[in-house]
Amino acid sequence: MRTPIIAGNWKMFKTIAEAKAFAAEAKAGNNTSGVQKVICAPFTALAALTEALAGTDIAVGAQNMHFAEQGAYTGEVSASMLKEIGVEYVILGHSERRQYFNETDETVNQKVVAALAADLVPIVCVGESLEQREAGETANVVRTQTEGAFAGLTAEQVAKAIIAYEPIWAIGTGKSSTAEDANETIAIIRSVVAERFGQETAEAVRIQYGGSVKPENIASYMAQPDIDGALVGGASLAADSYLQLVAGA
Ligand code: G3P
Repeated sequence: MRTPIIAGNWKMFKTIAEAKAFAAEAKAGNNTSGVQKVICAPFTALAALTEALAGTDIAVGAQNMHFAEQGAYTGEVSASMLKEIGVEYVILGHSERRQYFNETDETVNQKVVAALAADLVPIVCVGESLEQREAGETANVVRTQTEGAFAGLTAEQVAKAIIAYEPIWAIGTGKSSTAEDANETIAIIRSVVAERFGQETAEAVRIQYGGSVKPENIASYMAQPDIDGALVGGASLAADSYLQLVAGA
């Protein structure tokens, strides 16, 4: 049995004060067990958030990191810097980073290796654009991205990672993938993991769906056999909405 995981991706939203207010509200209303909870905040809010959520079962994640341990990389943050402030997860290869910041399967792979080495859990994002979907390339795209992200890793390492399938056309658009379609693509991703790293790893690795997930539709995704949770943008910004997503999982 895979434990479901509901991760919020705040993207470039929330000041430290807003993050603290979220934490206070989330702590007060947090009464669901059996679901792993993660909030991925902007760098500036991470330390305050890990402090505010200490002693709860709500973990904190970053939204990116550099693959080098340290060095002359102006503007970057390393895995051990995140670890030092209590961060446990890191989103890697989000489509917005691939689109606006030139992330490639190679850099995502380097980051996955560095995250695991620092004992951070990577949430690796894969997903096709609308153009690719319409051209019938979805399976190929997620295969290439999944193989690329995990190249050179051991089965044991891959089992520790989380994969988030986020079709780009469903992100922030209100157009969510149907639960059945999302499950179909997630099953393809799981079969790629099985091919490369064995059936046991494929059964252990958790794969989330992301793209316009809301409290109203979370149950339909969770009812699918291959969907192990969600990576949520907009609907994770308010504590009550995030807790409803957790309850729905
Ligand atoms: O990483 C989560 C995200 O890209 C989905 O965003 O706002 O459609 O839930 P949203």
